[in-house]
Amino acid sequence: MNLNVFKVALFACMVLFQNSILGQERINFETNIKPILTKHCVNCHQSGGIAPFALDNWTDVDARAIMIGAVTASKYMPPWRADTSFQHYKNENYLSKNEIELIQQWIQNEQPRGIVERRKEKGLPPNKVKKKQGTEIQIGFNRAFIIKGENKEEFRFFHLPSKIKENGFIQSIEFAPGNKKQVHHSRIMIDTTQSISGIDGLSEEDSSILKYQTKPLADPFLFGWVPGNDKIIFPKGIGKKIYANSDFIVNVHYVPSPIQVVDSSSIIIQLTDEPVERESQTLTLTENNISNQPFIIYPNKKSTFYMRSPILQDSISLISIMPHMHLLGKSFKSYAITPDGNILPLVHVPSWDFNWQTTYQFTKFTVLPKGTVIYAEATYDNTNENPLNPYKPARTVGYGWGSKDEMMNLILYYVKYRQGDELIDL
Ligand code: HEC
Repeated sequence: MNLNVFKVALFACMVLFQNSILGQERINFETNIKPILTKHCVNCHQSGGIAPFALDNWTDVDARAIMIGAVTASKYMPPWRADTSFQHYKNENYLSKNEIELIQQWIQNEQPRGIVERRKEKGLPPNKVKKKQGTEIQIGFNRAFIIKGENKEEFRFFHLPSKIKENGFIQSIEFAPGNKKQVHHSRIMIDTTQSISGIDGLSEEDSSILKYQTKPLADPFLFGWVPGNDKIIFPKGIGKKIYANSDFIVNVHYVPSPIQVVDSSSIIIQLTDEPVERESQTLTLTENNISNQPFIIYPNKKSTFYMRSPILQDSISLISIMPHMHLLGKSFKSYAITPDGNILPLVHVPSWDFNWQTTYQFTKFTVLPKGTVIYAEATYDNTNENPLNPYKPARTVGYGWGSKDEMMNLILYYVKYRQGDELIDL
């Protein structure tokens, strides 16, 4: 055999050998894809979860492989809208480039399943139930709410008396949607005047609602629920104060339904057994903090509004941040500038998504020293090209609670600064 023929033969053998090894290691569901879905998707995509189908088993995943490829490549799923090159969060959930690429390659290879370990086939381990401390109370609607099958969006208010007898501290707050298909998102507020019970069941469009909305609330934004933002847990030793006999006011957004259905949602509150060491407070920047007033968004225009907080009189340690806008919102960015001129990135949502408004929880306390100012800028698209524009043709939109009105809010949970907070993991 001459040398060249030998080289060719050797090369052919190597290729065959390599292929057989790679053949075994071909990207497959059991080894490569399942761990990605378990980590990033199954939390919502399981039976009884908030997503419309499960992704915790081969049959469901196999049937939807192409769709999974599409929504992960476009970053529509998992629904994480903040820019993580700007700031990181404890609750962040997004796929790495490598994970997205693995899913693509798996689909290109016709989504092989790989070798099934029988033990694992039995399904996922059940959700771990953590031992609970403190008192848990679940407060449901006074009566089930009937959504008439009129195929229209609904924004309804509910009044849920807490029946809490003594002042206390909240360790965690959770919203449990009753009808997961219908409840789109909700906002929990607190009233301590005991004069808003008449709001129960009223629609945002009901004119009698106005007499309630003039009353200042003890907490206009205790918690905002969207799918996936199920619960806020305050770090150990920190809690949110709740006064005896507080009433929860819940604003629920229902998606249209062609048939009559009911909803009975509830709030689950964990109260601490003992007074907490540090009280979590809420700093809410609103339309009043906008520096380029008035907050009017003219039709056929893209507008940007800038807001700044008053100068902080004390040092504070931030726990979380939540920007809030409605349907015309396009992007939101917030940062703080310290008296030394340091710029601290807080949150950046480059493509605003009305459906996925999240409480972004910092990984460590973000300390804002005394003298700091918090800034935010938000853009709105009030053109006919904005597919979410509630008015066609576009018309002038201003401030309001309703989803067809607009808002610019920044909700920050914080505690008063203590030395060493910079180092504390949340
Ligand atoms: C925070 C909860 C949550 C997480 C995490 C999540 N999903 Fe979803 N997913 C949903 C909900 C709710 C819907 C239905 C509403 C929608 O399409 O936005 C959905 C819809 C989908 C759809 C259908 C989209 C369509 O256009 O009909 C696919 C496919 C999907 N998810 C795949 C995934 C994959 C893959 C992951 C993980 C990489 C993931 N999801 C993570 C909540 C979630």
